[in-house]
Order: sequence, then C-alpha cells, then structure tokens
Amino acid sequence: MASILRAVTSSSTPGVDSTNPANDIGKRLAKWALVIGVPTAVCVAAYLVYRQQQDQAKKSATRRSPLPTPLTSITGTTIPSTKAGGDALSTSDSRTKNRLTLAIQLKNEGNIKYRENKFNEAIIAYTKAIDACPSESKEELSQFYQNRAAAWESLKNYSKVIEDCSQAIELNPKYIKCIQRRARAAENIENFQLALEDYSTVCFLDSYQPAYIMAADKVLTNLAKHYIETMPPSTAELSKDYVRTSLNEFEDDPIFNSTIINEIRTAQPDSPLARAYQAYNESRFTDIPSLCTQEIELSISSPYKLQALLLRGSFYLLMGNYKEASADFDAVINDSNATENMKINAELKRANTKIHQRDVEGAMYEYDQCIKNHPNACGPRVHRGMLKTLLESYSEAHDDFSEALNISPINLRAKYQKLINDAKIGNKENKPDKVEQSLGSFEEYYDSCKHDIYYALALTSCYLDNDRKDKALEYLKKFVKEIPNNPTLLALKANCLMATDPSNNVEAEKLFTHALEIDPSNETVLTMFAIFKCNRNQFEEAANLYERAIQCSRGEEKLMQYAALLYAIRAQGRAMKRLSLNFPGGFPQANGPLPSWMGGMN
Ligand SMILES: *[C@@H]1O[C@H](CO)[C@@H](O)[C@H](O)[C@H]1NC(C)=O
Ligand SMILES: *[C@@H]1O[C@H](CO)[C@@H](O)[C@H](O)[C@H]1NC(C)=O
Ligand SMILES: *[C@@H]1O[C@H](CO)[C@@H](O)[C@H](O)[C@H]1NC(C)=O
Ligand SMILES: *[C@@H]1O[C@H](CO)[C@@H](O)[C@H](O)[C@H]1NC(C)=O
Ligand SMILES: *[C@@H]1O[C@H](CO)[C@@H](O)[C@H](O)[C@H]1NC(C)=O
Ligand SMILES: *[C@@H]1O[C@H](CO)[C@@H](O)[C@H](O)[C@H]1NC(C)=O
Repeated sequence: MASILRAVTSSSTPGVDSTNPANDIGKRLAKWALVIGVPTAVCVAAYLVYRQQQDQAKKSATRRSPLPTPLTSITGTTIPSTKAGGDALSTSDSRTKNRLTLAIQLKNEGNIKYRENKFNEAIIAYTKAIDACPSESKEELSQFYQNRAAAWESLKNYSKVIEDCSQAIELNPKYIKCIQRRARAAENIENFQLALEDYSTVCFLDSYQPAYIMAADKVLTNLAKHYIETMPPSTAELSKDYVRTSLNEFEDDPIFNSTIINEIRTAQPDSPLARAYQAYNESRFTDIPSLCTQEIELSISSPYKLQALLLRGSFYLLMGNYKEASADFDAVINDSNATENMKINAELKRANTKIHQRDVEGAMYEYDQCIKNHPNACGPRVHRGMLKTLLESYSEAHDDFSEALNISPINLRAKYQKLINDAKIGNKENKPDKVEQSLGSFEEYYDSCKHDIYYALALTSCYLDNDRKDKALEYLKKFVKEIPNNPTLLALKANCLMATDPSNNVEAEKLFTHALEIDPSNETVLTMFAIFKCNRNQFEEAANLYERAIQCSRGEEKLMQYAALLYAIRAQGRAMKRLSLNFPGGFPQANGPLPSWMGGMN
C-alpha cells in the first residue's frame, strides 16, 4: 500500500524511490487498480490538501527539516514573550513575569538533567516548571509539557507521553514536533487511530515529508488488516450488474452456451448443475459454487463435469476466491475432453485471476501462452492487447489488435480497443490529427452501437483520456438516454458534470443517488461517489460510502485498499477539523482519477 500513498506525493519528492525498479511497476499497478474499479489515491483528501499546500509552499518557499530529534527540541531556545508596554507594569503583570522567569529556569534545569540522561530528575524539574508557569503563557507551557513528554519517551512510558503531548497540543495545535511525538507513542501502544490522525495532521502541517507518509502508511496497513480480520464473512449477494459486465468481458463464454444449457435442463432437470443455472437466473449467485461442487462430485463421469468446473471457477473468480478459481481453470485446461473454446475461456479467466491479484507479469505470461496454444483465436489477442494498452506498450497493443482483426474482421471489441489505443499513440506522439482521426472513426459506430454499454464506456473514456470532457459529457447525455438506468453511466455523467463545472454539484449528487437506487451495492458507483464527497469536504459521508463498498466487495487486496481509504479519510477529516483547515471548493482534479479511470476497459 506504500505505493498508493507515495503516488500521492511523488511529485513533491522527486528522487524518492526513483532508483527502485518496483516504483515503476507500482505505478502500473496503481493504474490497473483503477481499471478494475479501485480508486488508488489513498488520500483523495490528502492529495487535494497537498496540492493546496504546494501552492502555498511556492509562495512562502520555506521548509522545515524533517523529523527533529528529541534533543534538538529541548535545546531549541525559546524566547520568553516579553510584554511591550514600557515601565508601567502593574503588580500582577510583574508577578506573572517573575513566575515565568522561574518556570524557564526550572525548565533549563530539566534540560540539563535530560542531557545527562537523568530522565526522572528531568521530569521532576519540568513538573515544577509547569506548576510555576502562568497559565496565560501558553507557548512556554506547551513547551514544558512537550519536554516532559520527551523525558517520558526516553523512559518508554508511552501513556505519559501521550498525556503530556495532548496537553501541549491543546495549548498549541500546530506544534509539529509534539504531534509527531504523540503519533510515535500512540503507534507504540497500538493506538493506531490516534497515530494516524496525528501523522495526517503532521502531513498537512509539514508538506507531506516522505517520512510521515511512510509512517502513516504503516499504521494504515495495520488498521486495514485488523478491520478485514474482524469483518464477518460477507454474506452479501453479488451485484447483478457486476456479474453481467464481468462475464461479458469473455465473448462466446461456454458457460452460457444456450445449446448446452437447454440440454442440461431437458436431460437432467433436477441435477445440481440445472439448479445452478436456475440460481443464476434468479441472481442467487453465491449459491452457484456449491451446486457445481455437487455436480462435480456426483459421478466422476458426469458428462457436464467440465461445464460445472468452468461455471464454478467463474463464480469463484467473481467472489474473489482466486485460488479456488485458478484450480478449477487448471482442471479444465488439463482435461483432454475440454473443447478448444473451453480451454481458451479457462486460460483467459485464469489470467484474469492474476490481474485481480495484481500479478501483471503472471497475467502477461498466461496471455502469451494462450496465444501460442490457440494462434487462430481472436479473443486472447484482444485481451493481451488491452493489458498492453494499460501498460502503455501501445505499439505492441496495436499489433495485437491488428492481428485480432485479421483473424476476425468484424470483432467489435477489437475495433474499439484498437481505436482507443490509436488515440493513445496519437496523444503520446503529440499528433492531434491522429487523435482526432481515431475519435472520428469511433464516433462512426455510434448509430449501430449506441445501445452497447461496452461501446458507450469505451467511447466516453476515450474522450476523457484525451481531455475532452465536453465531448465526453455530450455523449454521456446521449448514452444515458439510450441506455437508461445504467449505474456506471449515471456516475460517469455526474463526474463529468463536476469536471466541467463544479457548480453542477446538486445535479451530480442526484445522479449518484439515482445510480445507487438502481444498484445499491455497486462498488464502482460507491467509490466514485465517495471521491465526490471528499472533494466537497464531506469526509464522514465519504467514509460511510467506503464502508458500504467494503460490504459488497470481494478479494483481500481490494478490501485492504478500501479499508485503508476509510481510515485515511476519517483520520484526515478529523485532522482537518482540528486545524480548521479547508480547501477551496470545486473539483480540483483536472488530471485526477477520472480520465484514467477505465483506461478503455471494464
Ligand atoms: C508511567 O508512569 C506512571 C506515573 O509514574 C506510572 O503510574 C505508570 O505505571 C508508568 N507506566 C509505565 C508503562 O511504565
Ligand atoms: C456497477 O454497475 C455497472 C453497470 O452500470 C457494471 O458495469 C459494474 O460491473 C457494476 N460494478 C459492481 C462492482 O457491481
Ligand atoms: C455450444 O455447444 C455446442 C455443443 O457442445 C457446440 O456445438 C456449439 O458450437 C457451442 N456454441 C458456441 C457458440 O460455442
Ligand atoms: C430463466 O429465465 C428466463 C426468463 O426470465 C426463462 O425463459 C428461462 O427458462 C429461465 N431459465 C431457467 C434455467 O430457469
Ligand atoms: C495441469 O497440468 C500441469 C502441467 O501439465 C500441472 O503442473 C498441473 O498440476 C495440472 N493441474 C491440475 C489441476 O491437474
Ligand atoms: C473423456 O470423455 C470420455 C467419454 O465421455 C470418458 O470416458 C473419459 O473418462 C473422459 N476423460 C477424462 C480425462 O475425463
């Protein structure tokens, strides 16, 4: 998850990790995550605040040194605030002044003891300084507390560190050193919530130093892990749209071969496999694997064993049980009775499990093998081309799509994907003509394909990729009419409306709400809506949306990411409240998550 946070700050810290080859793959993975519907910017909020701070930093161009040691914090001199008022000090003023002088003396004694590693004695001196200090000398008082906290930290008494730091922070909410110290102490006693809130605060106050981000990341991982571990097993049904679109990715899927399904239904209407198809029909998707298992175990020689294996593997994949899914696909691929179409399907789905597990190299290897095994099939080339587009190997992708079209000149997927890729080539080579030409050819399919959701998403994302929000919005308005009640289209339209004019927020909110009425467990819509809420400073609502996304998502990687987002957003919301921070309204993400959101794939 470090890559997530790092991605947020990479522009501030050039050089950090640039020597690390994993960084590059990290970026690609982040992109991939976007494609499968996972927003990666852990701190959407943090990112926005960060950008705001960047602007401020440009103005003030001052930077603090990262992670000061406890000792420098103590030896750092404080100039007692002297009252500018001349000789006419009242008696109470002079008494105050005397008490402050005494307190500073006591603190200095404490510092000497501290430097001699006599921490208990230092604590006694700091306590006296605190007692002597007049309550209106807030700055000094907060320093005395912070010094005593440093001594407690040396004694590894973390609850006392937190106690003293809290006093100091209350007196001086922007006391970076002290917030940092409390974060460390909180982390030590596994109060991760407090640690995260403090690290987030320090991030805001001190321009996202890499050290803080790494620290926050570690805490986030801990929190997310704990959250996932204590989560009850998901009983939520898969979303109908999700199942339909995910499986739609595989053309001519043998699990939906109507000849075979009819045969099963007529020949053995009470068989487990027939009941599995019935369950599919009634959208009881999570019942499917156990019914398939019954069919597979029923008799070794069940003529439909392969069909049941493929169906079970497909639903394991959708449910995030990747290991089980891969085993089923292996079994189909190894079976000499499997048809070529079945094998291709199992190989492509096995590659897909790799992608879901973020193993891009593994998936690429699978596609290479699949093409080698089935040189005359169109599908494997389209799938590999899509992955290549995503990895920005545009010319290799181009070859794959061209070859796919040689094999099957009327394959629409191959055509769309080739056009998306061509536009990307034009963009990369800075040839606007080429981009326009691709977009123009894409539009030519409009009349014949306007009811095809795949086309709608591909065309829209192609415009968004090329920063043509106006055109994307124009088409989205049309598509929403042609394909009403599609949650993703509604959410995309909402996003586009905001991107073109932030004052569209009321309409956008309505669209998101409507999309969730249609499909309340649609992860894609939930996470897009959450980002919208973050942009509007509504962190609690955003966090609630992530909570809902967690309820309906599968797969540990994704769950970890959502849980991390959930905690990051809540902590940042609290940190911002603490500092009374606010970033200007609007939708400051011209190059934000939206344009690369789908990368032309779904
Ligand atoms: C920390 O100090 C307090 C006060 O002296 C003491 O009561 C407590 O037991 C200490 N805790 C630890 C963990 O040493
Ligand atoms: C959300 O709905 C869209 C259809 O609008 C579908 O493509 C997508 O797979 C759904 N996502 C989830 C996670 O349910
Ligand atoms: C469906 O299955 C039948 C019987 O196995 C086969 O002949 C046919 O080609 C398949 N149809 C498709 C579209 O794959
Ligand atoms: C599924 O539903 C459709 C209509 O909704 C029906 O025609 C078909 O027979 C059903 N299939 C099964 C397996 O029940
Ligand atoms: C399938 O075959 C490969 C190699 O022939 C083997 O490594 C693998 O274990 C087999 N898998 C299954 C599930 O039989
Ligand atoms: C292939 O099918 C035949 C006939 O249905 C069957 O006898 C044989 O056991 C099957 N082979 C495998 C590996 O399942």
